[in-house]
Amino acid sequence: MRLHINVDHVATVRNARGTAYPDPIEAARECLFAGADGITAHLREDRRHIRDADVYALRKIVSSVFNLEMAATDEMVRIACDVRPDVVTLVPERRQERTTEGGLDVIGGGDTLAKHVFLLRQANIKVSLFIAPDAQQVEKASQLGAHQIELHTGEYAHGAHGAEAAELHKLRSAATHGRMVGLDIAAGHGLTRQNVGEIARIPEVVEVNIGHAVIADALFLSLRGAVAAMRESIVRGRGARA
Ligand code: PXP
Repeated sequence: MRLHINVDHVATVRNARGTAYPDPIEAARECLFAGADGITAHLREDRRHIRDADVYALRKIVSSVFNLEMAATDEMVRIACDVRPDVVTLVPERRQERTTEGGLDVIGGGDTLAKHVFLLRQANIKVSLFIAPDAQQVEKASQLGAHQIELHTGEYAHGAHGAEAAELHKLRSAATHGRMVGLDIAAGHGLTRQNVGEIARIPEVVEVNIGHAVIADALFLSLRGAVAAMRESIVRGRGARA
């Protein structure tokens, strides 16, 4: 299973003081050194953490997989076609939100979303759509020509106590359905060392994107230690597969 680390929070700390440190590029290097398979960063429209220059710098140093998360807008697609990340993950974006809330509505995305997926594909960029684990969204993602879906694990991670089993069931079904229609399956949002195991047990899920928990763990374990610890939890979960 591929472990991609999201380095947005490092840029948040940097920007809080207007200093040049901590540097998300240096953080990405550390994560890769610790065994991460790729780096993820979200260039938001308000540039609240990752900035344009970071995206270009990450492209230069990440020779494995650089996954650029972004809203499906003309501006972002233009930037992506210039930066040429290995993967673009299209996410919904609202200015007032603290982090990405909910999945992309690929059914409601209409012709505009279809155009953005087409342009990214034409630029030879792998397209991943961040969606809720919902059969209709999975089906539509496939029809739009996405290569991959990233299943939103937020409801599983933060949902009401007792709802975990139902959410896991939705994630398993969506992953199976996605594979059946030929999509690669990733997962992410709210994953921690404690809850990633159940996601790692889903055989169709071949990638996780994790930010908050790894950067938080890094305060106590170092960044390399936090990446290694997350990897350990994933391997343990994967190994426990029924
Ligand atoms: N995947 C996507 C599409 C996201 O938008 C985010 C949050 O930026 C993540 C994964 C990582 O979520 P977290 O920071 O909760 O690990």
